[in-house]
Order: sequence, then structure tokens, then C-alpha cells
Amino acid sequence: MTLEIGVDSTFAQSVVDRLQSIEDRLASAAFADTPFVTEAASHIINAGGKRFRPLLVLAASQLYEGADVDATERAAMAVELTHVASLYHDDVMDEADLRRGAESANHRWSNSVAIMVGDFLFARASSIVATLGVDYVALQAETFARLVQGQVGEIRGPADGDDPVAHYLQVLADKTGSLIATSAKFGGMVCGAPEPVLRALGAFGEEIGVVFQLSDDIIDIASDRTGKTPGTDLREGVWTLPTLLVKAADDPADARLRELIGRRIDDPDELAEALALMRAHPALAQARAEVDRRARLAKDLLTELPEGPARDTLFELCDQIVSRST
Ligand code: IPE
Ligand code: IPE
Ligand code: MG
Ligand code: MG
Repeated sequence: MTLEIGVDSTFAQSVVDRLQSIEDRLASAAFADTPFVTEAASHIINAGGKRFRPLLVLAASQLYEGADVDATERAAMAVELTHVASLYHDDVMDEADLRRGAESANHRWSNSVAIMVGDFLFARASSIVATLGVDYVALQAETFARLVQGQVGEIRGPADGDDPVAHYLQVLADKTGSLIATSAKFGGMVCGAPEPVLRALGAFGEEIGVVFQLSDDIIDIASDRTGKTPGTDLREGVWTLPTLLVKAADDPADARLRELIGRRIDDPDELAEALALMRAHPALAQARAEVDRRARLAKDLLTELPEGPARDTLFELCDQIVSRST
């Protein structure tokens, strides 16, 4: 899907123009010393993606007048490059063969290439953030530290005695919420938003980031049209809200499904079976209700922001994220 920002206002047109310029600049950022690294680094950038994080930067940057256009675009590029870098690494972790409808870098070349090219793109993001100032560098560093700790938290699972749902939600906040929060904050920083508004943007971004990942985890089960291979979480034995709900319900009718979830599934027939059982399970509707509830919480946080088209756009984006998984 693509995220819409409406096309009939000056505001929307300026966002569309900025996004086009960011596309061109992203292509330049992937340029390396050798044709091979350039090709591998451009591969997932060119495959597209929703550009949700740049869109958040652009929308938030218009909460107040006066944001420097070039600085705003650099902030938007930095968050997208950080995101793409994390996707190269994530596909290694998740043994994914498809990303943005294209062959993943690990599958096309190798895990080592995907890891190194992810690092290369992260370095490019860092160079760009450095042009924005030390506050941006500090936030970017803190964000990446949280993102990778979220990814490690997912691999390790909850410690003995920890609540699995609380652990899962913390993983989502760290691996996904952190960068989405930073995207919203970068937008506020480039337009000189006052500290309380920056805090509200961070809180909003974190909340909508968790909703975004909850939605993505439902889509992993429910949709065949994501540009990724459905059932990747099930295949890897990664617990997500729908499977955690099945486990918690402890219903004897789920005996077969409970045997399949939470462990690797290498047999394609078993994977298809797990996917079909999950798709038919009421846990999916429960998880969707949770997405809806938390998206409303995110929207409530927007009341702290100044009224206007920028805030309206952020509000609409919340609805679009919910409708992705419904
Ligand atoms: C994928 O992010 C990884 C998650 C955090 C769910 P997106 O859904 O934003 O991926 P692209 O950028 O559109 O490909
Ligand atoms: C990705 O989480 C999170 C990051 C890239 C930091 P997932 O593994 O659930 O995302 P997809 O489904 O592969 O995009
Ligand atoms: Mg993944
Ligand atoms: Mg993953």
C-alpha cells in the first residue's frame, strides 16, 4: 500500500514535492566507491517502500513556519536510510527472501553482503545527521541503540518470570517505535518546535510506531500482498500478539495450533497449516481491536500539537495505519 496525504491542498503538494526530492537524494546517498556496493546499497532503496518515516518528518516539520527545506530533507533522508539499513539486517535475522517485492539482499548475494551494506547505509545516515547538529546526532545514536536492543530482545525472548506480552510490547517500542518517534521529533526540531511539543511528538511517534508494528505483525499472518513472504514470523517461531493471544487463551480446541506456534516451522505444509489456522482464529480480530485502541491513544496525543494541516495529516496517517491490517 501507499500512504496518502491528499493532493488537493498546497500543504499536500509541498509534501509530495519534498518526497520526490528525497527520492533523488536517497539514490545519491547510496552511491559508493565501487559499482557493486552502489548496486547492493541501491537495491532495497530502489525497490520502493511506503516512506512512512520521511513522511512523518515532513508532516511534523510543518507544524510551525520557517523550517529550512534542505535541512528537513536531510532529516527525512537520515531516518529512511537508518530504516533501510535496519531492513538489510532484519532480513538476515529473519532469513527473509523478499523485501519490498524484490529479492532481499541476503538472498540475492549473501548474509555477509547484506550486513556490510546495512552498515554502509547506516554510515551514510550518520554523515547526513552530522550536518544537522549535535542534538540530532545524539538522538540518532540513542535511537539506533534502542532499535538494535529491540531486535536482540526479540531473538532472546522474555527472561524467566517476565510477562511475554509486556516483553513483546517493549520489543516493538524499541525496534520500531524508537525510530518512528525520532522521525516525528526530527520534524519538530527542524521547525523549531518548543520542548513540550517535541515531547508530545516523541510520545505520539512512539505510540503510533507500536501500532505500526502491531499492524505489521497482523499483516504477516493475514495478507498476501505486502511485498514480503507471509507467515515469516510463524516460520521463524517469533511470537507476535496474535500468537501470544492463542497461547494465553489456553483453549483445548487450539491444541494443534499451539504445537505449531513459537517454534521454527521448516516444513512448508506445516507452515501453510499454521497460517490457515491463525487466519481463521478469533485472536486475529482481538489483535486488530488492540491496534484500533492504541491508534486512538496515539491520536489523543496529537491534541498537544498546534492545530492545522500538519496535525490533520498526522491524524489521517493514524487511520491509514489501522486500515492496513483490517
Ligand atoms: C517494515 O517497515 C519494518 C517494520 C518496522 C514493520 P515498513 O512497513 O515501513 O517498510 P517499508 O519501508 O514500507 O518497506
Ligand atoms: C522489523 O520487524 C523491525 C526492524 C527492521 C527494526 P519485522 O521483522 O517484524 O519486520 P518485517 O515484517 O520483516 O518488515
Ligand atoms: Mg523481518
Ligand atoms: Mg524481524
